[in-house]
Amino acid sequence: MKKIHLGVFEVNSVNHLTQGIWAHPDQQRVHYSKIEYWKNIAQLLERGKFDFMFFADTYGYPKQRTEMAFREATGLPGNDPMMLIPALAMVTKNLAFTMTTSTSYEAPYSNARRFSSLDHVTNGRIGWNVVTTSNKSAADLFGREELFLPHDERYDMADEYMSLSYKLFEGSWEDDAVLIDRENRVFTDPAKVHKIVHEGKYFKLTGYHGTEPSPQRTPVIFQAGSSNRGRAFAAKHAEGIFLKAPTIEVLRDQISDIRRRAAEYGRDPSAVKVFTGLSVVVGRTREEAERKHAEYLSYQSKEATLSSYANVTGIDLTRLDPDSYFENIHTEMGQTHTDRFTKHSKTKKTVREVTEDFLEKGFRGLTVIGTPEEVADKMQYWVEETDLDGFNLEPYILPASYEDFIDLVVPVLQRRGFFKEEYEEGTFRERLFGKGASRLPDHHPGAEFRDPSRLTQE
Ligand SMILES: Cc1cc2nc3c(=O)[nH]c(=O)nc-3n(C[C@H](O)[C@H](O)[C@H](O)COP(=O)(O)O)c2cc1C
Repeated sequence: MKKIHLGVFEVNSVNHLTQGIWAHPDQQRVHYSKIEYWKNIAQLLERGKFDFMFFADTYGYPKQRTEMAFREATGLPGNDPMMLIPALAMVTKNLAFTMTTSTSYEAPYSNARRFSSLDHVTNGRIGWNVVTTSNKSAADLFGREELFLPHDERYDMADEYMSLSYKLFEGSWEDDAVLIDRENRVFTDPAKVHKIVHEGKYFKLTGYHGTEPSPQRTPVIFQAGSSNRGRAFAAKHAEGIFLKAPTIEVLRDQISDIRRRAAEYGRDPSAVKVFTGLSVVVGRTREEAERKHAEYLSYQSKEATLSSYANVTGIDLTRLDPDSYFENIHTEMGQTHTDRFTKHSKTKKTVREVTEDFLEKGFRGLTVIGTPEEVADKMQYWVEETDLDGFNLEPYILPASYEDFIDLVVPVLQRRGFFKEEYEEGTFRERLFGKGASRLPDHHPGAEFRDPSRLTQE
């Protein structure tokens, strides 16, 4: 039986997937700005043998219905999640951390330097979720309107960003460049550090990477956009993909499409691990779980939920005629959550149906409510039906959602041989792809930048 990998879908702020749930009396996420809170969460996840914490992140602010968004803590306030990592690395040994940064807003050099530094301090427990940033408000914050490029072009720019990042991570320093030879006074052998001269359409860089080779060099690359162009990008670069699909059939098709496209890039299709979001409410009985779920949702703010949709897609559902069809929709912002009601829907949907569906599911992925055995059955069924490699757990109430899952579901998964009982030593990439696999595999497009002659070509 295929063993699954498990991560959690986190943000370093108040609300996440259910807008309004901050007001639940047990919701400890309101303490997100305290390091003690995160320490407890990370240690809890390590007790549950989770593979990684995935922190989503974005720049921006709620451009629509801003006052209500502040009242309900939709998006803001929040902290930079990267700042947590050295502290969390000190209090855990095995848990990995996947951090999000944007190819539209971070300079490739400083981004690579930061990730290499994190890979050093975590001893190879870092992944990078590469996003292009689909919200316009980020451009306002940087005073750079021109950075909000059309949807597909953002991914073209991201492709070039990746080539330059591989030059920094993979090519600039040879493995044995650092000698620390006190006798001959050679800290770094200059012959083994190579200059990059990159002059591309979007980026220019001349110089050397700032850090010596870290355990994984390139962090484990993740991607999370399900649009057509997003998947083409993922098939080329990503080693882990977060897919969101409205039905099991769409998910299965997306996974086989990703693996087929990865093979076209000369990659081993099994070297792409696919995760989907999983929301779980578990109880000792089905009734208990259903009661809990209803209680959680009673805190949801409908207004804030619809405004979160508008802020991601640019489409304010409340301004459309509820009886009209949700069709011929085009957005240059995120397309995953428009495609889900158009291209990926079996039937034409009215705005009213789209609104009801979004209020019920929001940005959540698959949802299962039931006993531990029922949850494990569903997880197994989804993996068997779709060829998924794992799940990204999407919490409601913290730490309760993780505690419930770890205490009730994880033992069932382990008993069935579906999830590991112990961590194996190693880096994040080794945990996903096996012992000795700390570095990008040779079939990955980033590996070609190990050749110093590639460092001066586009
Ligand atoms: C599970 C998941 C996590 C995501 N995390 C982030 C994130 O942290 N930051 C961000 O800007 N976008 C995030 N996104 C959005 C996508 O990366 C992407 O930018 C967006 O869906 C628009 O691209 P698309 O049109 O290809 O979907 C996430 C999407 C999914 C499904």
